Amino acid sequence: MIRALRIAHLSDIHFGRIAHPGIVEDIIEDVNNAGVDLIAISGDLTQRAIPRQFQACMEMLNEFTSPLLVVPGNHDVFPWWRPISRLSKPLSMFKKYLGSDMIRSFEMDGVAILGVNSAHGKTIKGGRLEPEISEAIKTYFSSKGNGVFKILMLHHHLKQIKALMPHDIVQDADRHLKEIIQHGINLILCGHVHISHVESLDSQNDAPFVIASAGTATSSRGRRSNRRKNYYNIIDIFDTHFTIEERRYNSNERLFNPKRTTQFDRSK
Ligand SMILES: [Fe+2]
Ligand SMILES: [Fe+2]
Repeated sequence: MIRALRIAHLSDIHFGRIAHPGIVEDIIEDVNNAGVDLIAISGDLTQRAIPRQFQACMEMLNEFTSPLLVVPGNHDVFPWWRPISRLSKPLSMFKKYLGSDMIRSFEMDGVAILGVNSAHGKTIKGGRLEPEISEAIKTYFSSKGNGVFKILMLHHHLKQIKALMPHDIVQDADRHLKEIIQHGINLILCGHVHISHVESLDSQNDAPFVIASAGTATSSRGRRSNRRKNYYNIIDIFDTHFTIEERRYNSNERLFNPKRTTQFDRSK
């Protein structure tokens, strides 16, 4: 059993609505101690996409000691009361602080990860995959061999998950999901719903197809079963299987502790 890669998956940090004093410092310490190869962050870095929230986020990101792969969320778009900026340059503040690439990738030891933008000023809260993003997903993953473990990260969900109650998903999600399955993607990392949830879907081929929705890592905006709860995930990819450990914050201890670990074989 050989481990190829360890990833910390964080989502929905929401600077401007931080849940507990010290939680930002505590997650930095926990992630840095985990010895991860990559920190993947699936959007909603801020609450209102204003400079001081992005500045606070950058201070956090600068403390991490592993490479970062970050995509925006709908809260990183200019808010609705700035309609012209929201429509004409929705992600300009995100781009100012985190760079203008809306497609970002990371590859190491037989694992390929693509992060894409699904956040727009054109939608209220739900996501949207522009045609060039769909094309980039296809191009990127079709260039990877069968033995490569393929991960797609985006902010929004591509499927309504019954256990999470009705929630915002990407426009035309069924069509996107069908295409994504054809590209042999094994794991989707997303957030947005503020509920930690891991679920295996039918891939209709020999490989597993899992959705890992991270809870809100640091904000007070946890929803439904995750109200007032904060989570992030540690994902370990081995040659034969992979595991997703959901780590939940205890504000009294000021520690993130393992809550649940789910294991999946890499072949059915
Ligand atoms: Fe969020
Ligand atoms: Fe969101």
